[in-house]
Amino acid sequence: MGRPFFSDQGVSAISVIGAFSLCLFAFILRNALASRTKKLQNAAKVSEKPTAASKPESREPGGNVTMGIRSMPWDEWIELDQQFVDYHKIRIHRIETRGEHVVKTLPENPGVVGSGHPGGQIKDITVVPLGKTFNLGEEDPMRLSALLIQEDLAIMVEGTDGRYYFQAGAVCIPGWWNMREKLGMALDEIHISGHVPQFETKLNMSMARFFKRMPVDKPVVRNNYTFQVVPEEEKQDELDPIELAWAKTMKGEEDAKDIEVETTSRGLSLFYTFNATRKTDTRAWVVGRYGSLDGLVLKPSTVWLRTERQTLRRLPRSGAIVFTIRVYQTSVERLGKEPGVPGRMASAIRSWSEEVARYKAKGAYEGIVEYLDQCHKEQVEGGVEAPETNHPF
Ligand SMILES: *[C@@H]1O[C@H](CO)[C@@H](O)[C@H](O)[C@H]1NC(C)=O
Ligand SMILES: *[C@@H]1O[C@H](CO)[C@@H](O)[C@H](O)[C@H]1NC(C)=O
Ligand SMILES: *[C@@H]1O[C@H](CO)[C@@H](O)[C@H](O)[C@H]1NC(C)=O
Ligand SMILES: *[C@@H]1O[C@H](CO)[C@@H](O)[C@H](O)[C@H]1NC(C)=O
Repeated sequence: MGRPFFSDQGVSAISVIGAFSLCLFAFILRNALASRTKKLQNAAKVSEKPTAASKPESREPGGNVTMGIRSMPWDEWIELDQQFVDYHKIRIHRIETRGEHVVKTLPENPGVVGSGHPGGQIKDITVVPLGKTFNLGEEDPMRLSALLIQEDLAIMVEGTDGRYYFQAGAVCIPGWWNMREKLGMALDEIHISGHVPQFETKLNMSMARFFKRMPVDKPVVRNNYTFQVVPEEEKQDELDPIELAWAKTMKGEEDAKDIEVETTSRGLSLFYTFNATRKTDTRAWVVGRYGSLDGLVLKPSTVWLRTERQTLRRLPRSGAIVFTIRVYQTSVERLGKEPGVPGRMASAIRSWSEEVARYKAKGAYEGIVEYLDQCHKEQVEGGVEAPETNHPF
């Protein structure tokens, strides 16, 4: 049996992408065209402080894994911030160098290119901070969408078997996974192949039901997070210094055959031997030796919190579901200085089950807990007040 066939029930790519682009353009228009200048840069306010904007919540008290979703106000669908231009540079470089690995619409959805503009009213879009104009008649809608926003996008379409399939994507900055390996997969296959903890036992049923029933007028948002080890400053790549697009320091070369997604995300902790001997003045720890991690120095400035803000909404015409992934990164060094954060973060990390710790490759950076404890102690001794919050950290 091949993949369920999509196009005969009115769920054509044209309506999927068209409706998607329509929504997107409405947003972009508001931000980029209506007031011509500045607006795009000013839209930044939302995520000036990524830690506050990103509330990782995916579990209930008691440790049960849930989807952790909240309802999403309409005007918070897409988040632009002051890093738009930096993200754009990375995103366009990825599209140019990696092509279909990052932007692709499956051929079951024919006739996509050029179908994206609503009623021919808008011919092009200029993104002011970039000084770039995109012609809607010429651009591939997924590629264009990827270049107008900082989010990665996945379009999920219901198959005749009632499952949702990943049919079109613009995933430029995935960090750990390759879109092309997942494209065409059903929702459950994606999660199983990604080794999402407790997926089959706890999440699959409710997620499948949620996708099927999700109403057009009830978009949702969720967050998840992990930590990422990045190179020291003098060894950073110029375009993508903290490995937004690909977590090379942790995962090795993106296309390396011998480093399978599976081995690395599950086994990474084995590769590191943590040496907790603190170097008093630098707060640095030496990590064990392994391949590309050879000689890497783990310290609060080389471990970054990576949060994903994910949204889901159903498109009105096609019924397809748009999944957006917005990535934020913040160094542990900076987090350690935020009132109340180090204490909460240390206890969040301590509360991970063994399975979650393996999924998040805790072994690669667990020395940060000691640092966070130290920061917490200093805050308590210094009388720093932790603001009231319902964030895990
Ligand atoms: C966790 O899930 C189990 C089984 O699904 C349920 O019995 C239990 O009450 C849940 N615990 C919490 C704290 O929600
Ligand atoms: C996930 O749930 C769906 C819907 O109930 C079902 O069709 C599918 O077989 C399940 N997948 C797994 C791996 O349990
Ligand atoms: C967040 O969840 C998605 C799947 O829902 C997964 O692919 C991704 O790796 C997770 N990201 C982090 C930072 O844990
Ligand atoms: C840990 O690091 C210290 C200082 O660099 C070193 O003296 C010690 O031998 C190391 N311990 C191990 C187990 O590698």
